Amino acid sequence: MHSHISFGYPSFITYAHLPILAVAGLLTALSWTRKWPRWLTAIFGVLALWSFTAFLVMRFGVNINGRGSLPTQAFLPQGTGRVLDLGAGTGRSTLMVLESRPGTKVVSLDLFGESFSQHFGGTKTQDEGKAMLLANLRAAGVADRASIEAADMRSLPFPDNSFDAIISAYAVDHLNRDGIRRTLLESHRVLKPQGQFLIMVIANDPWMRYAFGSLLDHMTNNPQRFWPDQIRAAGFEVQEQGLRPATLYILARRP
Ligand SMILES: C[S@@+](CC[C@H](N)C(=O)[O-])C[C@H]1O[C@@H](n2cnc3c(N)ncnc32)[C@H](O)[C@@H]1O
Repeated sequence: MHSHISFGYPSFITYAHLPILAVAGLLTALSWTRKWPRWLTAIFGVLALWSFTAFLVMRFGVNINGRGSLPTQAFLPQGTGRVLDLGAGTGRSTLMVLESRPGTKVVSLDLFGESFSQHFGGTKTQDEGKAMLLANLRAAGVADRASIEAADMRSLPFPDNSFDAIISAYAVDHLNRDGIRRTLLESHRVLKPQGQFLIMVIANDPWMRYAFGSLLDHMTNNPQRFWPDQIRAAGFEVQEQGLRPATLYILARRP
């Protein structure tokens, strides 16, 4: 059943290093067998080793098209409640919640607009985007605990105090500063007092830097300070923060 799930991120993120590995491996072998200068063999060998290990990092450490897991067990430890997923995309973050917290229901919200198409290929209509998300929820067998909402996370179509918790993975970091501020204020508004907010953003941690340099940076200025500052400014208390492969997560609470 799970084999039908397809998150649809571009495969170059996972496999970009393989062509480099093929070329560098071939040149290393040629250089070795034809007795080219040792320094040249060493350069090709280092390049081959780097591309191989960078591939392993992306394929098995980051594994963007594979199932994700919650970065902290302190999120919704009671395992129940109504949860909002901001920028749900094709469902990877929604599944993190529904599968590890079986008593929850999730509203998967996405704009299904230009940013969705940029991440998940081609030009997708809103209906096509919704269908991709729904197909993954069905394939995982959790569609009955989810509902899909097409809306802008900067202006949420819900009354105050509607949710027990909010998750947002790799979505808020695609907004400009004003969008981030508005989204955090909106999140504070629709979250119940004591409700938790788990934000995950792309972090250029040492592993990402090793594999891609700064190519996939989403935000240059000190994200480990920027995000907690923004979250506190919107009225939340930060409970926990940490790094996972390619990810900075912050767990916050509405006082
Ligand atoms: C990188 S994807 C993340 C998808 C998913 N959360 C995951 O973990 O795979 C970012 C998503 O944010 C959505 N998004 C961007 N701006 C948005 C906005 N203003 N309102 C709602 N969704 C938005 C995009 O459509 C896209 O699906």
